[in-house]
Amino acid sequence: MKSDAVYRVLETELIDARRRRGGVPEVLDIGGGSGVWAVPLAVSGCSVTVVDPSPDALATLRRRAGEAGVSERVAAVQGDTDALRGAVPEGGADLVLGHGLLEYVDDVSESLRALATAVSPGAAVSVLAANRYAAVLARALTGRVPEALRLFNDPNGRLDHPVSETVRRRFDTDSLRDVLVSVGLEVELMQGQSVISDLVPGSLLEGSHSNGDALRELEMAAAAQPPLRDIATRLHALARVPGGHAAQ
Ligand SMILES: C[S@@+](CC[C@H](N)C(=O)[O-])C[C@H]1O[C@@H](n2cnc3c(N)ncnc32)[C@H](O)[C@@H]1O
Repeated sequence: MKSDAVYRVLETELIDARRRRGGVPEVLDIGGGSGVWAVPLAVSGCSVTVVDPSPDALATLRRRAGEAGVSERVAAVQGDTDALRGAVPEGGADLVLGHGLLEYVDDVSESLRALATAVSPGAAVSVLAANRYAAVLARALTGRVPEALRLFNDPNGRLDHPVSETVRRRFDTDSLRDVLVSVGLEVELMQGQSVISDLVPGSLLEGSHSNGDALRELEMAAAAQPPLRDIATRLHALARVPGGHAAQ
């Protein structure tokens, strides 16, 4: 994960936070689930509060944090974006994550407003969300062309299939940017995560160090480079509240 384009941006953000405020950076991870981001960030020295409605995910988070030796730096709060305002201090976080969250929430704008109220002045909201075009390509490349076509034509970039589709929506770079801007956030960066890796069968990469090294380098370069960025599996945006005040 540490060679990932998203992680790199977050690391820079946290270096800035340490400069700004000193001490241990406070990260708020909304929909943080089992700690895919929270645990590595705690290992890197942050104090992380994960808010998630799923007791199972929070149990896994606690176990993972224990195994990594960072239990004292990870707090698990059962709740969701609707209850955020009461559950965590407003304006207290040096970085707020909403990774893999906007695909599931009832109201994207309301959720983003809740995330924005939690950031301290100058701090950022980091959003990672599934890309509808990557989902189309993934189906077409595995021979599921009718599904790819339905997904392409669906306004929310999803299939109306309650079992295989748990997401309510997917985004593209424009729709993600638009919704962030619509709640008053300034989008500072838009990049892609997993542009190439999810398209290449693992069997083609196995056993070749040069392939692995080149792939990491290519991923880093492609992350910020349209049109490759725009077909990444996930889209990553970093946004700030203008003037450092909470979005209303
Ligand atoms: C796909 S997982 C993402 C987990 C993690 N953030 C990651 O990037 O790997 C989505 C998570 O969002 C949580 N979730 C769903 N609706 C939510 C809401 N309204 N508020 C907060 N979390 C929510 C789910 O319980 C789940 O743990």
